[in-house]
Order: sequence, then structure tokens, then C-alpha cells
Amino acid sequence: MSSDVVIRAEGLVKIYRTDAVETLALRGVDLSIHKGEFTAVAGPSGSGKSTLLHLLGGLDRPTSGEVFLEGKALSKLHPEELARLRLERIGFVFQAHNLIPVLTVLENVTFALELRGVPARERERRAREVLAELGIEKYAQQFPHRLSGGEQQRVAVARAVVGDPAVVLADEPTASLDGENSRALIDLMRRLNETRGTTFFFATHDARLLDRVKRLLILEDGRIVSERVQA
Ligand SMILES: Nc1ncnc2c1ncn2[C@@H]1O[C@H](COP(=O)(O)OP(=O)(O)O)[C@@H](O)[C@H]1O
Ligand SMILES: [Mg+2]
Repeated sequence: MSSDVVIRAEGLVKIYRTDAVETLALRGVDLSIHKGEFTAVAGPSGSGKSTLLHLLGGLDRPTSGEVFLEGKALSKLHPEELARLRLERIGFVFQAHNLIPVLTVLENVTFALELRGVPARERERRAREVLAELGIEKYAQQFPHRLSGGEQQRVAVARAVVGDPAVVLADEPTASLDGENSRALIDLMRRLNETRGTTFFFATHDARLLDRVKRLLILEDGRIVSERVQA
């Protein structure tokens, strides 16, 4: 059973200290993400969602507690090992504007594969396959600014899944989109979850999206206050 755990977090506490101010952003979070899950973490602004995603993805360190990615304790890794693990095993999607403007859509998607040494022809084949699954292959040679916000976020999702990561961590991927485009993006992520088996864990404060997920965690004041699994 434990072999299908992609990420395990134990006792995560995060305190931000700035000058005289201390903010307790996470107050002891335990959770496991299993292979193939499609999970949302919801909660009001300031509840700690971004902090949690940053810690799970090794972008920041907890004040105490530990994150295990495929069994490896992140705090025990050297910075270069952690960077490599992030590159190879985690796909990130952020709110908006995280595509590289001087690269085409296709290049934005192949870039991460290039860093990992995947040969050119194989990179392009894999990128085109994902772009087609997301209905945006026709934009392969365009630059991101020519695309709508919803299309740009689909490119960001394509880039995150193309390397078949252990998990895609998405921090409010629909924050810049209207209701219709938000639902469309989540539905596309859900489809990739079903066709490719990609594991997704995303944060949102949009309650309208929550019927789309298989598993829902509610974060309040840095604590998981409820959890449910749904059809
Ligand atoms: N870099 C930071 N420095 C200081 N305080 C921060 C920082 N990042 C987040 N916080 C604080 O931590 C709490 C949780 O923030 P965050 O994780 O961004 O929540 P959410 O993503 O749910 O809105 C908030 O009180 C926020 O102001
Ligand atoms: Mg946030």
C-alpha cells in the first residue's frame, strides 16, 4: 500500500519571521498523496495553501516536520539533488504568467525535457502529444502572448505533465480565469489524470470547482480541518 504514496508530509509547521512579526502559516499538517489521485486543497486566502504546496514541492523548507517524495526525505538532500528531483519528479503550475515569453508554445513545453537530456525528436513528439490532448496543438509555433489566458494555462499544464512527473502541484491554476475557463481547465486536468494517470494536487479558493475532484482537503488557519473522498 505504502508503495503508491507519492508524497507524505509529517507534522509540517511553517513560521514566517519578518522583523518583529511572526506568522504561523502551517500548524502541523500530515497528509499523503497517492498515485493517481486528483485532489484539491481548498480554503480561504491566507489559510496556508501556497505555503503547503511550496513545502510539498521542495521550493521552501518547513520550520519543522518533513516531506517525503517517493520515500526520500527532502531535508536530507543536497541542494543539487533536490533541484534534480524537482525537475524530474514534480510538475508545477502557478496562477498565471509563468510561460517563457520568448519561447514558442512548443518550446515552452519541450524546455523541461531538454534540461533532462531527452533527445530533440522525442521531446517534440511527447510535447505535441500532450498539446493535442489539451486541444492546443495548433498553437505550437505561436508565442504565449498570442493565446488567451485559458489557453496559456493549458500550455502551463502541458509543460507540467509532459515529463510524466510523480505529481503535478498546481497553485490556484484558475485564479486568472473566468468561471467557464476555470471549469474547462480543471476538466482537462481531470482528463489527463484519467488518460495518463497523472497525479494532481491543486490549491483553489473557488468553491465552484470542488465537485470536480476525487478528494478534497479543507485548510483553515494552517490546519487541515476536513477531508472527503467523492465520486
Ligand atoms: N513569504 C512570506 N513571508 C511572510 N508571511 C508570509 C509569506 N508567505 C505567506 N505568508 C503568510 O502566511 C499565511 C499563509 O499564506 P499562504 O500560504 O500564501 O496562504 P494562501 O495561499 O492560502 O492564501 C498568510 O498569513 C500569509 O500572509
Ligand atoms: Mg496562495
